[in-house]
Amino acid sequence: MADGTRFEGRTAIVTGAASGIGRATAQRLAADGALVGCLDQAAAVEETVALIREAGGTATAASVDVRDEGSVAAAVESVAGELGTPTILANVAGVLRFAHTHEMEVAEWDLLIDVNLKGPFLMARAVIPHMLDSGGGVITNVASSAGMFGQAFMAHYCASKGGVVLMTKSLAWEYLKRNIRVNAISPSGVSTPMTGHVDFPDGMDFSLIAKTMAVDNKMLAPQDPASLIAFLSSDEASGINGAVIPIDNAVTA
Ligand SMILES: NC(=O)c1ccc[n+]([C@@H]2O[C@H](COP(=O)([O-])OP(=O)(O)OC[C@H]3O[C@@H](n4cnc5c(N)ncnc54)[C@H](O)[C@@H]3O)[C@@H](O)[C@H]2O)c1
Repeated sequence: MADGTRFEGRTAIVTGAASGIGRATAQRLAADGALVGCLDQAAAVEETVALIREAGGTATAASVDVRDEGSVAAAVESVAGELGTPTILANVAGVLRFAHTHEMEVAEWDLLIDVNLKGPFLMARAVIPHMLDSGGGVITNVASSAGMFGQAFMAHYCASKGGVVLMTKSLAWEYLKRNIRVNAISPSGVSTPMTGHVDFPDGMDFSLIAKTMAVDNKMLAPQDPASLIAFLSSDEASGINGAVIPIDNAVTA
């Protein structure tokens, strides 16, 4: 249930806000009272802002390529200038691919590591100084069930999300005396454009990814991880730091 006073007066930044979990997170944080900077490389981020404004919330859009240091810095400064110092960061932007590893393009490996792992690093690097200036903050990274165990045909994706898990824990330790909490969530399948259009490589043995599917192939709605991110970003979660919380219908249980 949204609570318009939960984040009253606080500025949040959400990456991947043009689509799926990022859009749902931006909407939820805004419904909970945050002023939301919606970051994405896709133009549809403007639609997210329009949806938030129609619902009575406050949001602004900034174009970003999370792989690029200068682009990230410019987007964060633009949000800070318009909406005030960000003290909430949700790193949601990501890309998913499947490939036989021995046939994988090196460029595809680089893409997944750069967007999924370097992106959250660059975002944290740009936002943490604002959090330190204002006495603290909360970062939530979106990992994946595929960051909790090995998954066939997804070596690059699993490596990136496993990296996110340990980066999260490292940042939690590093900043815990400076009042910045850093957590991650690890969703299983969520119904979004990412899972709606997956290209599987020829000859892929689907039995090797069976363990990663929820029973009856139950999918989450984007609002499910969004509400978990909102909870972790809130003062109700003040004791939760360095955690990686599964939201996966028992896939990793
Ligand atoms: N959908 C799932 O089943 C699922 C499960 C576990 C984890 N995740 C993770 O959740 C996150 C969101 O996934 P989703 O399902 O909402 O996907 P999505 O494809 O709907 O949205 C991803 C967004 O990231 C943006 N993006 C991609 N590259 C970018 C870049 N370089 N710079 C800025 N923005 C960029 C895209 O434009 C898009 O708007 C991802 O990190 C994904 O790995 C998804």
